[in-house]
Amino acid sequence: MAKEIETSMRDYFTAHPNLRFIFFGGKGGVGKTVSAGVTAQWLAGQGKRTLLASTNPVHSLSGLLSQDVFGKHTPVTGVPNLWAYEIDTKDTIERSKVEIREKIQWFLKFADITTKAEDFVESATMNPAFEESAMFENMIDLMFKDEYDIYVFDTAPTANARRLLGMSKVYSLWVNKMLKSREEARSLRNANAELMALEPQLAALAPRLAGITCPVAIVHGTKDGLVPYGNVPFMQQRMTGAARMEVMTLADRNHFLPWNSMSEVRAAIDWAARAGQC
Ligand SMILES: Nc1ncnc2c1ncn2[C@@H]1O[C@H](COP(=O)(O)OP(=O)(O)O)[C@@H](O)[C@H]1O
Ligand SMILES: [Mg+2]
Repeated sequence: MAKEIETSMRDYFTAHPNLRFIFFGGKGGVGKTVSAGVTAQWLAGQGKRTLLASTNPVHSLSGLLSQDVFGKHTPVTGVPNLWAYEIDTKDTIERSKVEIREKIQWFLKFADITTKAEDFVESATMNPAFEESAMFENMIDLMFKDEYDIYVFDTAPTANARRLLGMSKVYSLWVNKMLKSREEARSLRNANAELMALEPQLAALAPRLAGITCPVAIVHGTKDGLVPYGNVPFMQQRMTGAARMEVMTLADRNHFLPWNSMSEVRAAIDWAARAGQC
């Protein structure tokens, strides 16, 4: 059974003069919009700069007030100190999509990953909670902007409102995951940075490859994800002065040949050693 009301809202507000955020929740048709409206009007009458805002995707403040308050803070006609605002989720969602796209692009670039951002944007924004999370972001922005003395929220029916309020937990999980991935990306980047510093040396080496006259054995795995197999023809073209050249292509092997193909690597060294002097 519902708890009996012991304190009137007027007494509650008097006892909590610093109250800043009031949420009206509950299932459809219980009187959230009407209660939020009269509460906001009463608070404005007390001289507080008041914002009556709707986070319900199905808005009804415009209907309640008989004036269009969709998408912008609108002074309520005939009520000093009162503004009303129906949050426009379409704008928020578009803005969030742009932001998410930028963040993902930045992240992929940062981690040196060449995948297209669109696939990630799609999966991030097709999420059924996306509209709620966009709404949550907008609501939090509103609260932090600090433009009003008091905020009265007309929320969507219970499940949505509770999900909105519980969203901060989801957000911190997401932020922590992003931070962790960023750490991992940073360590990869450091490893890459060490190699990238060698680029001028490699460029200086290229024209001198023809000057190598000793026998050359090239051993390369076709599934090398770090150094492309295409380096083999590059070397064959450049090392024109080699006394002899042997290419050992290791099908389906990756970059780590000394560990996974020790006998082939030994055989190649053996061959080069027997093939003659430089
Ligand atoms: N205190 C109340 N006394 C009588 N009728 C009310 C009261 N509060 C709301 N209503 C009526 O109940 C209906 C639903 O109210 P509304 O505020 O739109 O609910 P909700 O926003 O929770 O869906 C409306 O027709 C409204 O006029
Ligand atoms: Mg309503």
